Amino acid sequence: MEVLEAIRARRSIRKYRTALVDDKTIGLVLEAARWAPSWANSQCWRFIVVRDSAIKSKLADALISLSDRAGQSLRIPPNGEVLAPRRGVSERPNRATEAVRQAPVVIVACAELGKSGYYARDLGEAVTDKGDWYMFDVALAMQNLVLAAHSLGLGTVHVGAFDARQVASILELPQGFSAVVMTPLGYPDEEPQARPRKELSELVFYERYGGK
Ligand SMILES: Cc1cc2nc3c(=O)[nH]c(=O)nc-3n(C[C@H](O)[C@H](O)[C@H](O)COP(=O)(O)O)c2cc1C
Repeated sequence: MEVLEAIRARRSIRKYRTALVDDKTIGLVLEAARWAPSWANSQCWRFIVVRDSAIKSKLADALISLSDRAGQSLRIPPNGEVLAPRRGVSERPNRATEAVRQAPVVIVACAELGKSGYYARDLGEAVTDKGDWYMFDVALAMQNLVLAAHSLGLGTVHVGAFDARQVASILELPQGFSAVVMTPLGYPDEEPQARPRKELSELVFYERYGGK
């Protein structure tokens, strides 16, 4: 499948058929992730392939419910540390919860912290004012992965709203690693409509911010 076509036709898939995904196919999507660019080729990402139903179920339980008022249920104070998620009756369950529980495979992308955004000879001192670039590098790898999956007829959805400490414990991550994002992987059992996108005229400026 051509890259532009894959980009345009990919959708977040939250319903999966029970059909299994063979190891060769899983290898192909992981290979696509492996070829993503990264800060100084530091490749801080690690991928955990989960097929075990009990572990998938625990991961699903770690997803954070979403509130209509963004930032409230996630307890993210402006410019502040992310607080432990609060779970309450007024919240909607995370829409990907059943997908994580039921898809034949879940891939969890983790990162080794303190590598991306640093010079290898001078680890500990961030090169830019953005600090650790691990989110960026993992996102690039995951987008490669989901596009490759789509080109092979598989569905995915980036799932970021979860309790990362809980997921680290479930997957026994070593110190210095963080769980960044996960995706169910399997054959789609739905064909969602495309979600709307802002027009380029809203997003693109010329020569300076706001320049038309
Ligand atoms: C960083 C990130 C985190 C996301 N987290 C969740 C999530 O926790 N649960 C979920 O159902 N979808 C999640 N999504 C999927 C988005 O809701 C989805 O990509 C968006 O609505 C656009 O729809 P599309 O992917 O079908 O184009 C996430 C997407 C991104 C990029």
